[in-house]
Amino acid sequence: MSIFDERGGEYIKKINDAAKSYLEKSAFCGRESSGLEVMLEAMRYSLENGGKRIRPVLTLEFCRICGGDVEKAIPYALAVEMIHTYSLIHDDLPCMDNDDMRRGKPSSHKVFGEANALLAGDGLLSLAFEVLLSADDEPAKLVRAGAELAKAAGCSGMIAGQVMDLKNEGRKATLDEIKATDKCKTGELIRIAALLGCICAGATQNQIEAAEKYCAGIGLAFQIVDDILDVTGDEAVLGKPIGSDGEKGKSTYVSLLGLEKSSEYALELTENAKRNLDIFGDEAEFLKELADKLSTRRN
Ligand code: IPE
Ligand code: IPE
Ligand code: MG
Ligand code: MG
Ligand code: MG
Repeated sequence: MSIFDERGGEYIKKINDAAKSYLEKSAFCGRESSGLEVMLEAMRYSLENGGKRIRPVLTLEFCRICGGDVEKAIPYALAVEMIHTYSLIHDDLPCMDNDDMRRGKPSSHKVFGEANALLAGDGLLSLAFEVLLSADDEPAKLVRAGAELAKAAGCSGMIAGQVMDLKNEGRKATLDEIKATDKCKTGELIRIAALLGCICAGATQNQIEAAEKYCAGIGLAFQIVDDILDVTGDEAVLGKPIGSDGEKGKSTYVSLLGLEKSSEYALELTENAKRNLDIFGDEAEFLKELADKLSTRRN
């Protein structure tokens, strides 16, 4: 087994175990009898055992590579995954992308109804900050991480990107507009995932800059590959609908540049992203392989 498969598998297990136990502990302790079971069920449905977990894996690996304790980084990692999962629940709602499949199962709103899907997303967003800010770590690190996470997830980060994305429907956006959209809607959660690992480890400014530059490249490449898979993917492997962007007339790299140029650009971004890891020497092997795997993924 390669280092990537072995360490990646360990990280994903840690994240899945933590997701299960935090949802049980923090969310509904003693309140199950007041009719909130549906919320717990809806939050679990979307969070547990689903998705590639690339953001929390980035958190744990950047913590490790910057000399930190991976166990300490688990609440940081889980907080990012909770926010990412909430963003997917809301992204699928009829008022947004109106998609009925996610992570190989019917979307939250198809199972629990729109109101409960909205609330399960809100619940995960709030719980992310509860999990992070109640972690057993230095208060100064937690406050910095909390403030950075709020900014990356909010109106100058992911939310801004989602607003721009909706504006790109039914019109031909420019490449600069699409780049700005993708940088916010997808890039910011990828960047913050790495940054939280760095903060937890007490990383140097040089390490943080390298992490952010690497993530800027793989983040943009990630969304371009997502847009390519929306055209070329296999629904059963992808776990979500194909052709969704085209149906809505969304402007994407693919609609503007075509499949071939988009794919070349994603590979170029990935190669350049990996160069930023040179300061970590041989220890960067896992993150380099992650970048390559993401650029050639099928789901
Ligand atoms: C999907 O993200 C949304 C985008 C930013 C393109 P992922 O492809 O990481 O989704 P999961 O977590 O694996 O389901
Ligand atoms: C989603 O982008 C980005 C966020 C959820 C913030 P997409 O709308 O392209 O993601 P998918 O294709 O539905 O996963
Ligand atoms: Mg969307
Ligand atoms: Mg979508
Ligand atoms: Mg997509």
